[in-house]
Amino acid sequence: MSELSVNHLLGIKNIGPNDIDLILKTASQFKEVINRPIKKVPSLRDITIANLFFENSTRTRLSFELAEKRLSADVINFSAASSSVKKGETLVDTVNNILSMKVDMVVMRHPNPGAGVFLSKQIDATIVNAGDGAHEHPTQALLDAFSIKEKLGTLEGVRVAIVGDILHSRVALSNIFCLQKMGAEVMVCGPATLLPKYIDSLGVLVETNLRKALEWCDVANMLRVQHERQDIKYFPSVREYTMQYGVNMPLLESLKKEIIIMHPGPINRGVEITTEVADSDQSIILQQVENGVAVRMAVLYLLSQKRKLHFEGA
Ligand code: CP
Repeated sequence: MSELSVNHLLGIKNIGPNDIDLILKTASQFKEVINRPIKKVPSLRDITIANLFFENSTRTRLSFELAEKRLSADVINFSAASSSVKKGETLVDTVNNILSMKVDMVVMRHPNPGAGVFLSKQIDATIVNAGDGAHEHPTQALLDAFSIKEKLGTLEGVRVAIVGDILHSRVALSNIFCLQKMGAEVMVCGPATLLPKYIDSLGVLVETNLRKALEWCDVANMLRVQHERQDIKYFPSVREYTMQYGVNMPLLESLKKEIIIMHPGPINRGVEITTEVADSDQSIILQQVENGVAVRMAVLYLLSQKRKLHFEGA
């Protein structure tokens, strides 16, 4: 297979293992490109991409922008905080105004789950979901899968524990879909109050004891507690959370095997992981960020190919 089965990347749920495999293989080629002295290729020379961020972001926004520039696309950036959204303009009006400027692809982060799906039904541009509320963050899951495969050589049979605030995490949901489709085993671990009620329907192992989860896994993907999405208290205090669910060096060193530590960022140092763990040899957090550019180049390139085929009537 050399083309994606979808015209937009809205979530991992609606793509197949062949799509994921194609994206990861294409990302490997782009990783080689961005490590050359001349990092730019002309693949998206005729494409204009709008990055629409209705929610805060550092890694995803910069990573997409760099990926687009490395592919020679024309790029425009939009941030809701400094836009006419503040004056009451709707999502569709905002996007249609931007599309009048002849934009081909839209990369969008939005606080509402399903915002990307909604937009893909309203407009003609190719949509890439850069995170929609607590729903999905597909390119994060793809770069996480790429990073695990790069480190361990395979995803098949790898045991991944996703630890922390599962309830409010789009990273957790996209990772679960992606890892399972690629043959990995997934466990979620966190306080019972931060595990969604529907968790059993996802086919993952569930654990509330951090030590047991770390003893089981090859890779621990540590998530941030998302205070900004919490309107009630889910645990007594941050100090108590850290005592039960924080990873520190003595805990890591007491395990029988050396596990890999991942984190999608932003990190709350001293809460879900200590500085020593975040900066240790077992951590691949900065490799994840580096791989994000190659993975997003692959996604944009493959979707642009799909768009070209669509317009050529293939
Ligand atoms: N991992 C991630 O999505 O980080 P940002 O919120 O900084 O984009």
